[in-house]
Amino acid sequence: MKRLNWIVFASFATILGAWLIALYGCGGGGGPIRVTPAPEGPPSPTAEFLALLPEGQRGATFVGSERCADCHGGRQAQVEPIYVSWSQTKHAKFNVGCEHCHGPGSKHAEAPTTENILTYPNITRSIVCGQCHGPSYEDHKRSKHFEAVEELVDPNFVGSNPRLYVATCYRCHSSPFRVEQVDHKLSVGKTRDEIDTAITALTNDQLMAYLPVTHETASCVNCHDPHRNTQYLNKEGKQAMLRYAIQSTDTTDIAPGTPPKQHTTFNHICAHCHNGRGVNPADSALETGTARPGMHYSNQYNMLLGTGGVEGTGPVVRYIEQHTNAPGQCTYCHMPNGRHIMTVSYDISCAPCHTPADAYRAQALRSKIELDLYALRVRMENWARQQDFNNDGQPDNDPDLWNYWALVPAEKQSLSRTIQGRIPIQVKRARHNYYFVLRDESFGIHNPPYTRHLINVANFELDSIGAPRIVPEALLTRVSRQQIRNALQADLERMKASAFLDR
Ligand code: HEC
Ligand code: HEC
Ligand code: HEC
Ligand code: HEC
Ligand code: HEC
Ligand code: HEC
Ligand code: HEC
Ligand code: HEC
Repeated sequence: MKRLNWIVFASFATILGAWLIALYGCGGGGGPIRVTPAPEGPPSPTAEFLALLPEGQRGATFVGSERCADCHGGRQAQVEPIYVSWSQTKHAKFNVGCEHCHGPGSKHAEAPTTENILTYPNITRSIVCGQCHGPSYEDHKRSKHFEAVEELVDPNFVGSNPRLYVATCYRCHSSPFRVEQVDHKLSVGKTRDEIDTAITALTNDQLMAYLPVTHETASCVNCHDPHRNTQYLNKEGKQAMLRYAIQSTDTTDIAPGTPPKQHTTFNHICAHCHNGRGVNPADSALETGTARPGMHYSNQYNMLLGTGGVEGTGPVVRYIEQHTNAPGQCTYCHMPNGRHIMTVSYDISCAPCHTPADAYRAQALRSKIELDLYALRVRMENWARQQDFNNDGQPDNDPDLWNYWALVPAEKQSLSRTIQGRIPIQVKRARHNYYFVLRDESFGIHNPPYTRHLINVANFELDSIGAPRIVPEALLTRVSRQQIRNALQADLERMKASAFLDR
């Protein structure tokens, strides 16, 4: 390992020596690149990067991008050859060559195999880019995208059903799987059906092979195409080699009533993962989907676009609202100044539309939505208390049986399951909206008018079966804001556990 480090470092130093001038200073102006200033030279490959190289590549030396062009000028039928498209990128202009990402290529150029060049799955790791893009990488490391959901990388758990947990969940929960099986194929022009067929054809062993290499949920190359400038510009209209558009109002894959999709292929850099996975507010779906809420943990795009909740019988209003139309949508608020932690900055993300004096309105909206959701929950509990589900001729006084059966305490699940048919559709509509708003987790901000509308509709539904109204503010004499937050959080946690009963 030590020896390899030295060899590769030496080769980099030689080859890159001439590029020093070009690279030096390119990180100026708060730019993204960490370039070690002279006299040390450009960044050397880190031990972490070198550890990714396959055995067959060890000891190889650098041959330069022109050599790769001999063979990788035209391998892909549907798109421009890699070398050609790469040569039009900023990377080419700054002499970031094939081997900066794929490692030294002498052995591969002599006898090409996939065993002597850095390729899938390890090429998808963010550290490949993190060698140079220090600040973006440091940000990304602090985001949830840098982690994997624990259960989903546990072989004992996943091994029970790799066709479900890998072939389905990994489309959004595993960077190497997603890059190789979905993103890359879309970028070379494969259709969703072709992608689905290819994934279905993978053997259990091939699926399980993604477990030990899944470290990140989403890495740099789920969002960035490493080889080409794309037509998808950032919100300032600048090239950022983005794989998908940052803005869309497309709902083809998520319109209510469409069958759940394993993955969506509508063109949106966040929404192809952050969508509710087939959330369907139709009565027929609410009558049959009684185990758990019918939306995945990730219905933010649906909320932003105002689709997926039970909307009542009034005139059809499309809630495409002020925040739906923020330039860059998700990226405007979640990537202020291009930063990659994905958390909102109330200072930067809301300007210039709002002033700092507006900040209290965000807090006020959140508190109000939390309270209204909690009040809706209490109302459903009160309704349940009055029911005689155990048929003993009197009200059960049990607050839990309004809920989906997988979310009630374990000892009541079998009873809850048997009585789902006796829960009126009005309660099913109300609980759908309750979970739809809760699960989005922005507590109103993603789409304030739509959020309020869904809570109103839920309350009208409960009115129509005579469930007594309650005044949300009156609850505050009995429970604190913190207790309310805890109760909502507990519902989110129960939903998380139920995700593993997923389709
Ligand atoms: C002499 C022709 C030749 C040269 C030169 C060459 N390659 Fe390759 N490369 C191939 C062939 C053929 C394959 C497919 C090997 C296989 O499937 O076993 C390949 C595969 C690859 C792969 C893996 C693709 C995959 O689908 O997993 C990468 C990455 C790659 N080459 C990068 C490079 C880089 C970087 C260079 C320059 C340092 C280079 N190649 C130079 C012929 C070449
Ligand atoms: C900025 C880093 C970077 C540079 C520079 C780069 N690659 Fe890649 N390459 C990647 C990553 C990451 C992947 C996997 C993601 C993907 O397939 O889109 C990949 C995938 C590939 C593949 C396999 C997929 C395919 O399209 O066949 C080949 C072959 C390849 N690169 C060759 C090259 C060649 C040749 C060059 C130089 C002309 C080059 N790469 C430059 C990062 C890079
Ligand atoms: C060897 C260093 C190096 C590596 C490795 C590297 N980059 Fe870069 N990258 C650069 C430089 C230099 C620039 C141009 C800097 C500038 O514009 O200030 C750049 C620019 C970019 C840009 C802006 C493109 C544009 O047109 O403005 C993106 C996006 C990017 N890199 C993504 C990546 C990704 C994703 C990877 C990993 C697959 C990667 N880079 C790997 C050095 C590198
Ligand atoms: C269409 C993309 C997509 C698919 C497919 C998908 N998920 Fe998710 N999942 C997400 C997104 C995005 C989030 C993060 C949402 C958030 O944090 O608000 C998430 C969050 C989760 C969480 C909560 C994680 C946490 O740390 O709180 C669990 C658990 C989960 N998913 C399980 C699964 C399981 C199990 C499957 C397969 C049966 C699956 N997911 C399939 C997109 C998807
Ligand atoms: C979840 C998607 C996503 C991931 C993951 C991601 N990026 Fe980005 N990246 C974006 C978007 C969107 C932009 C454009 C943001 C903007 O300027 O509004 C961007 C912009 C950039 C830029 C250009 C910044 C500038 O201001 O010129 C660089 C460089 C970059 N990303 C590198 C990386 C690197 C390196 C990683 C991994 C460590 C990474 N990105 C991971 C989505 C992503
Ligand atoms: C490849 C799928 C994928 C893409 C693309 C993606 N995400 Fe995520 N994102 C996830 C998953 C899965 C999680 C949850 C991970 C976990 O809990 O471990 C997540 C987590 C998050 C979180 C943290 C949620 C929390 O509960 O703390 C935010 C915020 C977020 N993503 C925003 C974005 C934005 C903004 C974009 C687009 C620029 C984006 N994501 C693109 C899959 C994705
Ligand atoms: C108008 C600004 C805005 C837009 C646009 C926006 N968000 Fe948000 N988002 C927020 C705010 C504010 C929160 C609450 C987070 C907080 O208080 O830290 C939030 C919360 C979230 C969360 C839960 C995060 C957590 O920490 O619990 C996720 C995930 C998320 N947003 C993803 C997205 C995605 C994906 C999009 C695009 C479909 C999007 N957001 C569009 C402002 C926005
Ligand atoms: C692209 C411009 C834009 C951005 C960015 C934006 N907003 Fe708004 N927001 C609006 C407009 C327009 C309204 C409607 C007019 C009003 O109520 O001020 C609004 C309304 C609101 C409301 C009142 C909603 C209601 O109906 O009660 C809150 C709260 C809010 N925004 C918070 C935020 C927060 C927090 C952010 C940043 C995370 C943000 N907004 C980002 C344009 C924007």
